[in-house]
Amino acid sequence: MKIITVINAKGGCGKSTIAMNVASGLARYGHRVLLMDLDPQAQVTQWLAAGDGLTADGTLVSALMRQQTLSDVIQATGFERLSFVASADGLEDLGREISQTEGYPSMLTQLIAEEHITDRFDFIVIDSPNQISPIMENAIFPADAFIVPFESTKAVKSYASIYKLLLKLRPIADFRLLHVLSNLTRLPGLRKRVLTLMQNDAMASARSEIRSCGWLAQVDENGGSIFHYRPLSKGAQDMAALVEEVRELFTNGQPAHPEIADAVSSADEPQLDAITASTA
Ligand SMILES: Nc1ncnc2c1ncn2[C@@H]1O[C@H](COP(=O)(O)OP(=O)(O)O)[C@@H](O)[C@H]1O
Ligand SMILES: [Mg+2]
Repeated sequence: MKIITVINAKGGCGKSTIAMNVASGLARYGHRVLLMDLDPQAQVTQWLAAGDGLTADGTLVSALMRQQTLSDVIQATGFERLSFVASADGLEDLGREISQTEGYPSMLTQLIAEEHITDRFDFIVIDSPNQISPIMENAIFPADAFIVPFESTKAVKSYASIYKLLLKLRPIADFRLLHVLSNLTRLPGLRKRVLTLMQNDAMASARSEIRSCGWLAQVDENGGSIFHYRPLSKGAQDMAALVEEVRELFTNGQPAHPEIADAVSSADEPQLDAITASTA
């Protein structure tokens, strides 16, 4: 099982959009995926109608407080192979409380290690909060890879603090990084400035870019992923390419199923059940 955390210390850079759609894309490829909302704003939770964003019962808040097990709070979604753990706003206060406990950044890692969670899923995808916090540290600690979206020069600048935190928590840097341009094609001048800043900092950008796509901006209203809502859109193509890039990270650079990129962007439900999860 691999854990992918979508992260940056800035709101509005596309984290939740990427987390939801990458998780959904991996599930459509045949993988068993657990999407976890670690944002106290509970954006994805409301997107999936998986909670009201306030009630702690049945959410990660309750699991971190050891009132329920992680298994207890894993919900099915309407989508095959995609399970979900909801957030609630109590996560913010809880973050402050746990910071008094020694070893608090590994609390989520411990929950995941229990109850055979690692055997039950091929991927966990984590949507993280907008600010550096104890909860964000829990999103960093167990990750095998980070997707870092950039939609502004501010997002590139705020990444410096995240990178410092990554190295503090994971000093041997045993993680992969995908720096992904997000929603910048509508502003070519800004896109160029973002790329220049990244080059100045010697930051490699991912092969995939999530272009500006009006359907992506509306997909949360629809309750599903871009693959269900507008499977032929630019947004669906870009998310499919990003999903492929994520998979390649863990298959020694070899795309396991290159033919699937076509299937995912096709309007028909692809025959994904035949594809066995290869990265468990
Ligand atoms: N590629 C894109 N094209 C158009 N709109 C986008 C794109 N990515 C994100 N958005 C929109 O930008 C806003 C911020 O995205 P979101 O995923 O919520 O960011 P974050 O989780 O980092 O705060 C949302 O309204 C979302 O619908
Ligand atoms: Mg968000």
